[in-house]
Amino acid sequence: MDAFKPHLADLADYPYAKVDARIKLDQNESPDDLPPELKSLALARLAALPWNRYPELHAEDVRAALARHEDWPEAGVVLAPGSNLLILALASAARQVLDTSPAFPYYKGGATAAGTPYRAVPLGPGFTLPLAPLLSALSGPPGVLFLPVPHAPTGALFTTGDVTALAERARATGWLLVVDEAYQAFAGTDARPLARKNPSVAILRTFSKAWSLGGVRTGYLLGSPRVAAVARAMIPPFCIPATTGAILTTALERPGYLAALVERIRSERKRLLDGLAAVQPRWTAYPSAANFLLVRTPDARAAFEHLLSRGLLVRRQDHYAGLTGCIRISVGTAAENDALLAAAREAP
Ligand SMILES: Cc1ncc(COP(=O)(O)O)c(C=O)c1O
Repeated sequence: MDAFKPHLADLADYPYAKVDARIKLDQNESPDDLPPELKSLALARLAALPWNRYPELHAEDVRAALARHEDWPEAGVVLAPGSNLLILALASAARQVLDTSPAFPYYKGGATAAGTPYRAVPLGPGFTLPLAPLLSALSGPPGVLFLPVPHAPTGALFTTGDVTALAERARATGWLLVVDEAYQAFAGTDARPLARKNPSVAILRTFSKAWSLGGVRTGYLLGSPRVAAVARAMIPPFCIPATTGAILTTALERPGYLAALVERIRSERKRLLDGLAAVQPRWTAYPSAANFLLVRTPDARAAFEHLLSRGLLVRRQDHYAGLTGCIRISVGTAAENDALLAAAREAP
């Protein structure tokens, strides 16, 4: 069979294997479901929907509420079923894709699926931003640079000064800098001031983490009208289901639950970081601005299997360049984190 483009012959699937475990700390989800009163309101809204009707073309109803919530012009907001789909859209539209190594794997995954030339610049020592090599890459033929801030999968936070330097170079050379703020709420950082001043910056955010809506699958772009128009054109019409829209509308009406969750995750993150250093001297947990910790162990497989034998599922990261021995642990509830610390104490 010869129907497909040759670059699709050996595409690897997304690096995720489902494993059942009592305590799930492998996908950087919120440990809490949506508050029950909001869930009830959303369910009532779902019941009142005419399920025979198509939803709005580009979720215009949700988009208006989201634009107000984010204080961003509606014409620059694009919703999609997961920011992954926006990554694929931008990677498909791009002349080339650039990221760091390691980085969230779907920047490369999206570029590879789209057949877009891809290249990565290694992070500096201690997971620092490789500013000089990135600036010099941004001086070449233009494309899209994906930069997660805070960085995934390391949890490192780059300085506003460095991100601004990349943005200025992007503006001068015709690149688009995509600041992926999937974990922004846990860091307290905000790329909007930069993107408001510079149309060569676009932001990706998601409902999957701090909003506690991983199962609902929605991410969004905040960008200039021109970037938003291209992203919108690259994703199919009517792609936010009415059911999803009803849930998002409910959350956007009462977003008060986010602040308490974020506060709890930040304080548990610190307790986990300090606790791991105290109970397991053979492991190094790196400081993180996100809702997960990257931890270097003597042997990632042994650490993963030991934790799984205690009912705790984490994610191996040792397949990434520079992350030998590393696992990634999502910050869970206090009880889940206690179980993690107890199991880590006895790790091989
Ligand atoms: C840095 C980063 N960007 C994007 C995503 C994808 O988010 P979504 O659930 O909106 O597709 C993730 C998911 O873990 C992520 O870690």
